[in-house]
Amino acid sequence: MTVPVLPDPSAAPAPEVDPDTTAFGIDIGGTGIKGGVVNLTDGTLIGERFRLDTPQPATPDAVSSTVHQIAEHFDYQGPYGCAFPGVVTHGVVHTAANMDESWVGVSLVDAVSGHVPGPVTALNDADAAGLAEVRYGAGKGHPGLIIVVTFGTGIGTALINDGVLIPNAELGHIEIDGHDAETKAAASARDRDGLNWEQWSKRANRYLTHLENLLWPELFIFGGGITKNPHKWVPHLKTRTPVKVAAMRNNAGIVGAALAAREQKLL
Ligand code: BGC
Repeated sequence: MTVPVLPDPSAAPAPEVDPDTTAFGIDIGGTGIKGGVVNLTDGTLIGERFRLDTPQPATPDAVSSTVHQIAEHFDYQGPYGCAFPGVVTHGVVHTAANMDESWVGVSLVDAVSGHVPGPVTALNDADAAGLAEVRYGAGKGHPGLIIVVTFGTGIGTALINDGVLIPNAELGHIEIDGHDAETKAAASARDRDGLNWEQWSKRANRYLTHLENLLWPELFIFGGGITKNPHKWVPHLKTRTPVKVAAMRNNAGIVGAALAAREQKLL
């Protein structure tokens, strides 16, 4: 005789997941890969996100198996959006500054498709963060040109004008004082060069001033790992452009990837 397994009354109830208004977002980064189920009616995560370290070297096979482990953790059936730290057009990766260079020319959609139980959409990570912040967060209802800048392992940028994204703007790589800007002003440069917040914010300010003089945005929104401590550096900035911190902080990439997956944007 088999004994029926009764539900554990102390276990947290499984969150409600409506397949029509949700999608799964995955944010692939230089140091971590994180994912979660997103409620697209308001851009919130349903339940906890799950993060694993980015495998080193971050090759297509290694990254796809990490994505697999993340998807297995949830077993979500529905569309999957994948944000990647490089240029992505029609699902194919074209640059990989902070990932293994063997990604260049590889279809991220094909690489991940066998590893998750649903159709896959792929886009640039900063573009994902930008879509999320303009739809649900700090840029909601804001007219004109918004530049979302993510400071993490690299610098990502998204250009959104009156709600319309111009994809794959690689403004983290503009040259300032003879250097690729992200090598000096990314969050990772602060750790690498042992800078305090004030010293790093001077570099961020130099970078942002350069951007605003070229593009004259009406708002900067900051995302990426650095948004954990905005009070330590945002007050040091002296840009003419108003600034806001991403409302979704470091989850904006997950939310935007899910949004792109549901709306099949940027395919
Ligand atoms: C890449 C961008 C990416 C950014 C943030 C840069 O090195 O070139 O595509 O958005 O890092 O991850």
